[in-house]
Amino acid sequence: MKKTISLLLLLLGFAFPQQITMKRPPKSLDKYYPPQSQKMEFLSNMFAMSTAFHGITLNINEGRWEKALDWARQLKKSYEESARMVPEWKDYFKPALADNLVKAVQSKNADSVIKASRELGQTCNKCHSDHQAVVKLYYHFPRYDKITIEDPVELQNLKTKDYMKRMANSMKSLQVFLMQGDVAKAKEHGDNFVERAKQLNTMCTKCHTSKASIESLAGRDYLTALDNLQRVLNAPQVSRETVFKHLSDIGQYCYRCHNVHLIPVLVQDALK
Ligand code: HEC
Ligand code: HEC
Ligand code: HEC
Repeated sequence: MKKTISLLLLLLGFAFPQQITMKRPPKSLDKYYPPQSQKMEFLSNMFAMSTAFHGITLNINEGRWEKALDWARQLKKSYEESARMVPEWKDYFKPALADNLVKAVQSKNADSVIKASRELGQTCNKCHSDHQAVVKLYYHFPRYDKITIEDPVELQNLKTKDYMKRMANSMKSLQVFLMQGDVAKAKEHGDNFVERAKQLNTMCTKCHTSKASIESLAGRDYLTALDNLQRVLNAPQVSRETVFKHLSDIGQYCYRCHNVHLIPVLVQDALK
């Protein structure tokens, strides 16, 4: 069954103010994105069309109509090719309008070129406002289900999701036992939480090569925050308040990393 979710894209920081319905992109697009293709052929065609559009205007402004015509033909070719790539979206494409643009450039009449460009451009805009955001969310973010992290407590490899669950459970157990006044148990789960949270940054290198990226979300400051927590847990008198303060500092890192990495996963899962 096809699941659709509807949300205000404004929330995700996109520039379209209207409400759209999110659907999984058409299956034929899968061929042009990872893991099936690293070349992103559909997106390259898009850039080709946009460059060709610019090539037309640029040359007409400088009086080079023949060059403009080359670009118009190039635009028509990429437009037709894009239409063939995704049969499900056939109705968005109006090949006759691409033809009109070529003819307008051939006629060397600037007004007809403007008119034909606007009409063709509207077909681009219509599809973009319906689909661009979803396509980016669906294909541009890698999946985490193939990534495993070694759990330092139970000494086994876990998928990201299961690892997160155990780590979050250790954290919650720490909170529950602390609030119940069961300090020994709180310490035990607190230690597990710290160990698991420290191990977390071993996953980053599976996607990132930039040390700066890793440092900014799970680097020295993050590890220091975890050391601080461990220290108060090992003190002769465990101060509940201080533990909670450190947990809230650490939570900021979870939150920031989730904003970048978890939100796309939630959208992808909802679209499956
Ligand atoms: C890489 C940055 C990153 C950091 C740092 C991070 N998480 Fe996550 N978290 C993720 C991703 C990605 C997922 C989704 C994994 C999936 O569903 O495949 C996730 C999922 C979760 C989930 C949901 C698991 C479920 O049941 O679906 C919880 C709970 C969670 N994280 C807790 C935490 C806590 C607590 C911290 C901090 C101590 C933390 N995470 C730090 C990336 C991160
Ligand atoms: C039937 C749908 C559809 C039509 C028609 C369409 N596009 Fe696109 N376009 C998309 C989708 C989907 C994306 C997002 C692809 C991605 O990010 O991988 C996109 C992305 C783009 C981008 C890249 C934007 C960015 O910054 O990532 C450009 C440029 C673009 N299109 C230009 C055009 C032009 C010019 C036309 C018309 C001549 C056009 N498109 C017609 C669906 C369409
Ligand atoms: C499954 C792959 C994956 C994993 C694992 C992963 N990231 Fe990312 N991360 C991404 C993607 C994709 C982006 C979006 C930007 C991009 O395409 O590079 C991103 C963006 C970021 C950014 C913001 C942009 C930048 O590159 O500085 C930071 C910071 C970051 N990740 C840190 C981390 C840290 C720290 C970890 C480990 C705790 C981690 N990531 C784990 C895929 C991943």
